Amino acid sequence: DWTMAGYREQAIAKIREQVGDKKVICGLSGGVDSSVAAVLIHEAIGDNLTCVFVDHGLLRKGEAEEVVAMFRDNYKINLIAADESELFLTALDGVSDPEVKRKTIGKLFIDVFQKYANKIEGAEFLAQGTLYPDVIESVSFSGGPSVTIKSHHNVGGLPEKMGLKLVEPLRELFKDEVRALGRELGLPQSFIGRHPFPGPGLAIRCPGEITREKLAILREADAVYIDQIRKHGLYDEIWQAFVAILPVRTVGVMGDGRTYDYACALRAVTSVDGMTADYYPYSHEFLGETATRIINEVKGINRVTYDITSKPPGTIEWE
Ligand code: XMP
Repeated sequence: DWTMAGYREQAIAKIREQVGDKKVICGLSGGVDSSVAAVLIHEAIGDNLTCVFVDHGLLRKGEAEEVVAMFRDNYKINLIAADESELFLTALDGVSDPEVKRKTIGKLFIDVFQKYANKIEGAEFLAQGTLYPDVIESVSFSGGPSVTIKSHHNVGGLPEKMGLKLVEPLRELFKDEVRALGRELGLPQSFIGRHPFPGPGLAIRCPGEITREKLAILREADAVYIDQIRKHGLYDEIWQAFVAILPVRTVGVMGDGRTYDYACALRAVTSVDGMTADYYPYSHEFLGETATRIINEVKGINRVTYDITSKPPGTIEWE
């Protein structure tokens, strides 16, 4: 009978058979899929795997440090962690159109990834955390109506461009099975159960122009918000929750003084697959307490709103 432990052994054998004693490169995003793929491949081939993690400057508070601590320090996986935030943020200077943001980030990401991957001598394979639904989607969408609401961040075409063969050990799995495999491999539950995070990161949670100042404020506000959700035991009921910093400053009062700071919007939705979503019905107490905490703890924000748009007609992200 079928068990995840059995699947793990089978998957490891399959990876060994495919790559032999050759070297593999794996891009780590900090998300569940690429992480599970990396740990699985590491079990199969050890030091013949090198992971590449690119910090594009649009990650959440503490995220880059967590990736390094988990993969390099804990799992002892060869890891190139590249801080390329200056490069990305400079390229995004003055860009406010959402699709231009995505294209700018996507294109740079491929260039940067390739630059680091080229340093790994003798690599013949590129690992990707492709899931079964990704495989289906790319088939059923081809020939369909060419309506793209948002261009998604992916590294399609990269393996061919680099002359690498693909390793996709999660190709037969659905998301919940990837999570189960991750648990089987010993990845912490707090990590496995994380909400999805988009490739372009905070860029699309900062509508309008992205500035370093706004990103710094957004990181702090988002950290307080997620902390509130966890403290109230709501994290696992929610599909995705985050703060968007709005491109507007508003007037407030604090003590004897007038403030003129950014407004932000809290987002939280329930969903099965991200295709449709309902806004999460927080209690007024939760919302009030969270707004007070963000305003008191985050310098630069003096107004908090809650986004009650469902999808459709809204999207989950603000851009
Ligand atoms: P929307 O905002 O379209 O999001 O309702 C649906 C899901 O997709 C994620 N998302 C993205 N993921 N690159 C990604 O990798 C993107 O450009 C992108 N845009 C949206 C979003 O976070 C949600 O989970």
